[in-house]
Amino acid sequence: MSDTSSPKAAAAAARTRVDPMVHVVDHPLVQHKLTLMRKKDASTSTFRRLLNELATLMAYEVTRDMPMQDVTIETPLESMTARVIDGKKLVFVSILRAGNGILEGMLSVVPGARVGHVGLYRDPDTLMAVEYYFKMPQNMEERDIVIVDPMLATGNSAIAAVDRLKKLHPRSIKFVCLLTCPEGIAALRAAHPDVPIYTAAIDRQLNEHGYILPGLGDAGDRIFGTK
Ligand code: URA
Repeated sequence: MSDTSSPKAAAAAARTRVDPMVHVVDHPLVQHKLTLMRKKDASTSTFRRLLNELATLMAYEVTRDMPMQDVTIETPLESMTARVIDGKKLVFVSILRAGNGILEGMLSVVPGARVGHVGLYRDPDTLMAVEYYFKMPQNMEERDIVIVDPMLATGNSAIAAVDRLKKLHPRSIKFVCLLTCPEGIAALRAAHPDVPIYTAAIDRQLNEHGYILPGLGDAGDRIFGTK
């Protein structure tokens, strides 16, 4: 049995525990770009470019099991039945504002996808998510949702977003982030065990301000150059 007597050991155990609903995208390209993004001296433009590239790679993983349909097409030589996805059924839901940093990369892979926005900010004292904006495409009950937010930290924003989106009865919901930690995974898995999580890494822990360690700092500030 693993030693979980200290917080560090418990976090390490959580990171290595196999949970089929948590997908760590450990492709070398993803890991390489993430390392460059973590560096404190990466410029805003570098950070944004890497996030865009990384989001494209994450999109491959999260769309791996998307439903497909057969269509008949004409090649220059003959007609054939071939498979296509219905991108319009997919909705990327960005948790504002940092989620917007992932959108462009995702849309470059599925340009027909619809986009929704959830505005949530973290109350600095309670770290709880407070909603200030919510705009979705119509007919959400026909759609597959991919929620995007670079950091799954306390899990409060992710849980609030999923709570709200489930009221629209979508076909499915997935959650994509770049970085998370054992605390964030535990919170989202406990509140919404049916929502798979896709991440590039599971870091060591949260600090007392709700930041991921070692992490990459404040994702919104680094994407938008606001600090
Ligand atoms: N949000 C961030 O931007 N960074 C963290 O480390 C945690 C939450």
